[in-house]
Amino acid sequence: MNLTLKIYRQDGPNSKGRMETYPVTDISEHMSFLEMLDVLNEQLVNDGKEPVAFDHDCREGICGMCSLYINGEAHGPDRGVTTCQLHMRKFKDGDTIHIEPWRAAAFPIIKDLVVDRSAMDRIMNAGGFVSVNTSGNTQDANAIPIPKVDADKAFDAATCIGCGACVATCKNSSAMLFVGAKVSQLALLPQGQVERTDRVLNMVAQMDEEGFGNCTNTGACEVECPKGISLENIARLNSEFLIASLKAEKK
Ligand code: SF4
Ligand code: FES
Repeated sequence: MNLTLKIYRQDGPNSKGRMETYPVTDISEHMSFLEMLDVLNEQLVNDGKEPVAFDHDCREGICGMCSLYINGEAHGPDRGVTTCQLHMRKFKDGDTIHIEPWRAAAFPIIKDLVVDRSAMDRIMNAGGFVSVNTSGNTQDANAIPIPKVDADKAFDAATCIGCGACVATCKNSSAMLFVGAKVSQLALLPQGQVERTDRVLNMVAQMDEEGFGNCTNTGACEVECPKGISLENIARLNSEFLIASLKAEKK
C-alpha cells in the first residue's frame, strides 16, 4: 500500500516543532508500524536526509519504549497492543497517517518523536520496589500462601509496562493509572506490606512533583492502555493514599 505520513519533527529539546509530510510506497500490510517507519528512514538516509528519531527496544510489547501518538490515539487505532505490535493491515491504501510524540508537560520532547519519560523512573525510585532481606534466612516467596483472587489482581497490575500511554491520552496528563498499577501490585501481596504506607505517600508525592495532573475519572487511560490495566487500580491507589495519610497524621 501507498501512504502519506504527516510526522512531527523537532530538532532538539529547545527547538520549535513542525509537521512534515512524507510519502511511503510498497508498504506490506504484514509490516509492523515500526517496520514501516524503518522503510521511511532508509529512504530518508538514502536521500541524504535526517531520519526520524523514534523510541523502540523489544518490538514485542514488553519494554514500553515505543511511544507514538497515531491519528490522535496513543499506540494507534488497535486495542490492547503497543505501537510495535500494531500492524499496517489496520490502515488502508491511500491513507494519511498523523504521527506525533506523547503529549504531556512531564514528558519533554528530546527529538522528533522521542520524549523523556524518566519522570516515571523517578516515581518508581520513590517507592515502586520491595526491600529484600539478604541475611540468608529469607523465606522462599513460593512458600508464602497468597489467596488466588489477590494473586490474580497483583499479576494483572504487574503487567503495566510503564509505556506512558495513559499519561499521553489523559486530558490532565495524569499518571494515576501507572502509579495505581505499581502501588496495587505490591499492596496486594505479603511482600509489599512492610513499606506499604511509605510507598504510596512517596510515589504520589513524586508524581505531583513531576507535574503530572490529577485523575478526573474520564477513563481514557484504561481505553488506550495496551495492557488493559483497570481503573480499579486508581480506586485502590486513592484508598491506599487515604489510609496512609491518616496513619502518617497519627504518628
Ligand atoms: S498503565 Fe497501561 S498505559 Fe499506563 S504505563 Fe502502564 S501499561 Fe502503559
Ligand atoms: S518496542 Fe518494546 S513495547 Fe514496543
